Amino acid sequence: IRVGLIFGGNSSEYEVSIISGRNIYKAIDKEKYDVYPMWITNTGFLASDADSRKVLEDPSYQIENPHNVTNISNVIELSCRPEIDVFFPIVHGNLGEDGCLQGLLRILDKPFVGDDVLAAAITMDKELNKIMAQRAGVPVADWISIKRFEYNDAKNEKLSYDYVSQKLGTDLFVKPSNQGSSVGISHVTSASDYKAALAEAFKYDDKVLVEETIKGTEVETAVLGNDDAIVSGVGQITNAQGSWYSYENKYNDNSTSKLQIPAALPSEIIETVRRQALKVYHATECSGLARVDSMLSSDNKVIFNELNSLPGFTNISMYPKLFEQVGISYTELITKLLNYALD
Ligand code: DAL
Ligand code: MG
Repeated sequence: IRVGLIFGGNSSEYEVSIISGRNIYKAIDKEKYDVYPMWITNTGFLASDADSRKVLEDPSYQIENPHNVTNISNVIELSCRPEIDVFFPIVHGNLGEDGCLQGLLRILDKPFVGDDVLAAAITMDKELNKIMAQRAGVPVADWISIKRFEYNDAKNEKLSYDYVSQKLGTDLFVKPSNQGSSVGISHVTSASDYKAALAEAFKYDDKVLVEETIKGTEVETAVLGNDDAIVSGVGQITNAQGSWYSYENKYNDNSTSKLQIPAALPSEIIETVRRQALKVYHATECSGLARVDSMLSSDNKVIFNELNSLPGFTNISMYPKLFEQVGISYTELITKLLNYALD
């Protein structure tokens, strides 16, 4: 079976996707699958097969300045690959995880791992994802959303820290609605923080969410499959006092956020996390896979945070670790995902 492994992409999660791609490439069952690496550079072009393979095989291969790469073409050229039987897109973030790439693969009429267009688009947008979760009866943190036209209106009340803190409390998170890996997110406790946080978040999206802070720890679970999807155990992330699970703490500094798999929590809480995750998964019409992230509040409520439809497959990523913990190896997990795509 010929697998087109698409990785990279011109989103803020480019580097994360390269690492995910390298891990999947290393772990995939080579007896069953012939892998065709397809590297989308950080300028949004498709690199040649030879360059794509080098990126995955040689960790020192230069990925930062793809202008030096020869033979780049438009991503639409994926359509000139009739030999591919199934695509595995592991492109995190905008254009890769939000339904755009999925739309292209749909037009090609080829099976692919993960969500279809609608589910990818809904789950990439944190606000729509929250609305769908609420609708399914799953609690979410209270929020206000701000569109760019509102941000551009200096008189808009939502730009005032007094206004938002009256509604949501003084301890807040400000997030671009469509981003991954915590890029563009700030924790806010003052009017000056708030102003800076809005400016930062609007660098990444035309819609920004202001959310009440849920004090507690983060809990994550992994879902695999389609209508008959299964849910893994639960992992827990505990952050050092005063810090949160930022991009830096996720990928570059492992001293601040501690991952625990499985989480040492009472079974009712574990079951609530798993049950709520599956509800959101089906409510948003997901397929293939997702990692569902929630907060466990200090009074033991499980509050849905977000669903990642193409979760990280890096060495420290929770999705593959959660399945390893229940006896599904990384290699087996990839085989299962490809089988679901071909189902
Ligand atoms: N968006 C990153 C890759 C994650 O959720 O793991
Ligand atoms: Mg998260």
